[in-house]
Amino acid sequence: MGHAIFLLYPQMIYKTWLLVSLLILGNVLLLCFTIVTLEKRKLWRLPKKLGYYHVAYPQKYTFIIDQPEKCAEHKPFMVVIVPVAPGNFEARDAIRKTWGSEELVRDKAVLVLFLLGSRSGTDETLQNQLQKENQRYQDLLQSNFRDSYRNLTIKTMVMMEWLSTKCPQASYAVKVDADVLLNIKNLINMLVNLKTLQRNYITGLILSSNSVLRDPSSKFYLPHDVYPRSRYPPYPVGMCYIFSMDLPEKIVRVSLHIRPIFIEDAYLGMCLKRLGIIPKKPPNMHQFVVRPPPQYNRCLYSRLIAILTYNSTQLTSYWTDIHSSSTPC
Ligand SMILES: *[C@@H]1O[C@H](CO)[C@@H](O)[C@H](O)[C@H]1NC(C)=O
Ligand SMILES: *[C@@H]1O[C@H](CO)[C@@H](O)[C@H](O)[C@H]1NC(C)=O
Repeated sequence: MGHAIFLLYPQMIYKTWLLVSLLILGNVLLLCFTIVTLEKRKLWRLPKKLGYYHVAYPQKYTFIIDQPEKCAEHKPFMVVIVPVAPGNFEARDAIRKTWGSEELVRDKAVLVLFLLGSRSGTDETLQNQLQKENQRYQDLLQSNFRDSYRNLTIKTMVMMEWLSTKCPQASYAVKVDADVLLNIKNLINMLVNLKTLQRNYITGLILSSNSVLRDPSSKFYLPHDVYPRSRYPPYPVGMCYIFSMDLPEKIVRVSLHIRPIFIEDAYLGMCLKRLGIIPKKPPNMHQFVVRPPPQYNRCLYSRLIAILTYNSTQLTSYWTDIHSSSTPC
């Protein structure tokens, strides 16, 4: 027996060395692959490499107008952020006079803030007006990236940054466009009826497998090499979405690994997918409406959470009408 082991010995050494060499080779290959991947990621960050379908994020954007103490003071249950163009005073006014004025619903504090980018060049008149507007209402957040339609993803991401650092007191956050009629009471009811405080929660009008548009004339066209899959991961339509406050920090963190495209809500879906979070359908999908019916109907409108309006005049008149009677139907 001892003899046989003695004879096998050289062969065993040979096998061991073969195994070790293979392992080393494998590790070297893995290392090379990692370095190449990391280099690629680094390149993504370089602004000069930015394609037409991508946006300049992450960058060290800062807030020119900020409300750093607002959440600590108000301790909101729900903070509502309205992305809006700097020059759109009309939309902000309409919201302040309508749904933005509802600060306390079912004992829950609601905080509404407007989020702006900056104008290119030195538009001092506009900037002075914004400073005055903010002195009066103290509800503006302005970041120093350039405000434009193609930069909406940056707006959403600086919103997530702001929420995660300046508003940890809130339980939920809402992103809502400036042309949306929001029914704060119905929204608070929806959240309160969830019974327990949700985590990893995001809801709204969920598109579960929206097609990537490949027609170059389409507004949301995205070429194959920018996004190779034919469908986006599930995401809530950008008009209005609601999320639990543990999400902003996670979304900011994961966004560092996913090159941002200009389609804000689809990009949010890409981040959520990477986090393994599936957007939830709201208790009642019909409460979110992107295409308003041809005729206004008080009974219908009073039951909704969010509906797109045509302009600020319409938003104001519908909100006033809904609230003109305690029995809208
Ligand atoms: C988006 O914002 C960045 C940073 O301010 C700016 O460099 C870029 O030109 C903007 N893009 C558009 C299309 O406005
Ligand atoms: C707002 O929209 C309504 C309905 O489409 C229209 O009749 C009205 O003229 C618009 N008002 C303004 C100021 O644009």
